Amino acid sequence: TWTPDAFVDITVAELKKKIGSEKVILGLSGGVDSTVAAVLLHKAIGKNLHCIFVNNGLLRKNEFSEVLEQYEDMGLNVKGVDASARFLDALKGESDPEKKRKIIGRVFIEVFDDEAHLVEDAKWLAQGTIYPDVIESVSATGGPSATIKSHHNVGGLPDFMKLKVVEPLKMLFKDEVRRVGRSMAIGDERLGRHPFPGPGLAIRILGDITAEKVAILQEVDYIFIKGLRDWGLYDQVWQAGAMLLPVNSVGVMGDERTYEKCVALRAVESTDGMTADWVNLPYEFLQKTSNDIINKVPGVNRVVYDISSKPPATIEWE
Ligand code: XMP
Repeated sequence: TWTPDAFVDITVAELKKKIGSEKVILGLSGGVDSTVAAVLLHKAIGKNLHCIFVNNGLLRKNEFSEVLEQYEDMGLNVKGVDASARFLDALKGESDPEKKRKIIGRVFIEVFDDEAHLVEDAKWLAQGTIYPDVIESVSATGGPSATIKSHHNVGGLPDFMKLKVVEPLKMLFKDEVRRVGRSMAIGDERLGRHPFPGPGLAIRILGDITAEKVAILQEVDYIFIKGLRDWGLYDQVWQAGAMLLPVNSVGVMGDERTYEKCVALRAVESTDGMTADWVNLPYEFLQKTSNDIINKVPGVNRVVYDISSKPPATIEWE
């Protein structure tokens, strides 16, 4: 029978044999798959695994610095690359959802390729591909591997794509990846993390993206997600997030009339993201969260809760 401990032992031995003393590059996303792949490879080849963690400026509040620190604490040889300005600059003025995705994919590849060139004499590219990615070739969880896959046929092949590929999780399902992660003592906070799309907050800001809008949405998302954790609701939800709508509405604050942004909160139950139902969150929670957001986030005066199921509504609004 399959056990995570045996999988780790066998895989580490195989990776050692296959890779020897050659260097490997891996893109970390903060997600479960790339993290588990990195820890497995680190066990096998140590410092010869060169991890690259890119901040595209569209991550959750504090995510880049906190996750980078966690990776360092795990002993990984990781380089954090803050490319926020490069992504925001490339996205300037673009409102079309698919074009935003394409821009983010392209810039990611450029940044990653630049960084990969700095690792001298690398021979391998490691990816956190899991079995459902192999059969669908579309990842619901996103991250570098999904981005690379959906964009590698656009333009010429970047140099890192010419490396030999190693995918230690290729035969595993998501729950097996989590069990493998747990058996290597990766924390539940990382393993139980909700999926987060590769293009990040860019597809939750409807319309064009500015640094100011990203900052507003990060605060809203932070209050919502922290609230879910504090109320013990986080693990009952498959995915949750907030959308910044391109709509201003009238409000009152004291004696003043306001004309500010509206945000939509979304929380869904699902098994694979293909279908989803909105979660019946307690009214008391929604009430508290709405008050917190409106009181604490300047520029937002209205909160709505999305009660649409997929299909026909998708999980993301873009
Ligand atoms: P939808 O909105 O299609 O989302 O119902 C289903 C799942 O896929 C995620 N998603 C993406 N992930 N790149 C990604 O890596 C994307 O462009 C993308 N669009 C949607 C979404 O967060 C949900 O988990």
